[in-house]
Amino acid sequence: MFIDRKFPNTRLRRLRRNTNLIDLVSETNLTSNDLIQPIFIKENFKGSEVIESMPNILRYGIDGALKEIEDIVLSGVNTIAVFPVIDTANKDSKGSEAIKKDNFMSASIQAIKKQFPDILLIADVALDPYTDHGHDGIIINEEVDNDETCKLLIEQSLILAESGADIIAPSDMMDGRIGLIRQALEKNNFKNTILLSYAAKFSSKFYGPFRDAVGSSSNLGNSSKSSYQMSSNNKQEALQEVAMDINEGADIVMIKPAMPYLDIIHLVKDSFKIPTFAYQVSGEYCMLKLAISEGWLDQEVMLESLVSIKRAGADAILTYAAKEISKEIKINE
Ligand code: PBG
Repeated sequence: MFIDRKFPNTRLRRLRRNTNLIDLVSETNLTSNDLIQPIFIKENFKGSEVIESMPNILRYGIDGALKEIEDIVLSGVNTIAVFPVIDTANKDSKGSEAIKKDNFMSASIQAIKKQFPDILLIADVALDPYTDHGHDGIIINEEVDNDETCKLLIEQSLILAESGADIIAPSDMMDGRIGLIRQALEKNNFKNTILLSYAAKFSSKFYGPFRDAVGSSSNLGNSSKSSYQMSSNNKQEALQEVAMDINEGADIVMIKPAMPYLDIIHLVKDSFKIPTFAYQVSGEYCMLKLAISEGWLDQEVMLESLVSIKRAGADAILTYAAKEISKEIKINE
């Protein structure tokens, strides 16, 4: 392919002489449409509070969240992923609160969609914000039980769909849940509810700050999620996970974390050619953010990291930096 290209007929630097040229031939362009902002909403709470391990990211009461979403929309980001921070008093071993109609998440989704009907709202499906042990499912005989958990995830999904979530995102990694949720959605006439599957979700220490944010880390303690989340050693297995979820009815698949798993993003997009998202998770964000705030790295590393995720094959990226990067992109346009 490159056989005839020889110096000086070819001088690759000709196209790098100024930024207009560089932009003109750019292969990857990150826009606000590619960015999804996660947001933490706390039950029985007003206003906002800092999250120690997540620079610049706050927990909001629903009132504060609505204000923040206004700012997100102004930044040009049209999609948000909402995560609940549930009152300790409402957590139990079965995550019962997750399947109560009109629970906090349901009320929050309704309030958000009422004020921002056009925003695309992604709601996570998993029990960890609701369980007192911090696992994504229920524990039977000392194991996170796949099939019993799926039954609850179906209930949780229907409540989220009914509340007005545009996109339902199972992040629990139980086997078979996409098919079961899809069937239930169809049966209950939620024909247009989009399923975004966290298809290849790795058992990762990069989730640490998120677990602080939703208050599940102290519950989880030293316990690991490696009996349901994937081993970071595996690549072929990621293809099986994704293939199964597509066959079961996923509209979009996601890889998570992002930057340490660019090879997986590339492989999945290349193999299946369906909408593929990546989640730049809390630990990835914090690493960069801390180094930037210390002055060890330039602010531009954030954009560079997101471009690399898109270049690898992601169509959209969940990132805590969505709003700030979207503002930056706007200024530079
Ligand atoms: C849990 C869930 C996690 C994240 C999103 N949904 C954490 C986990 O699996 O423990 C992580 C997001 C992040 O680290 O930013 N269902």
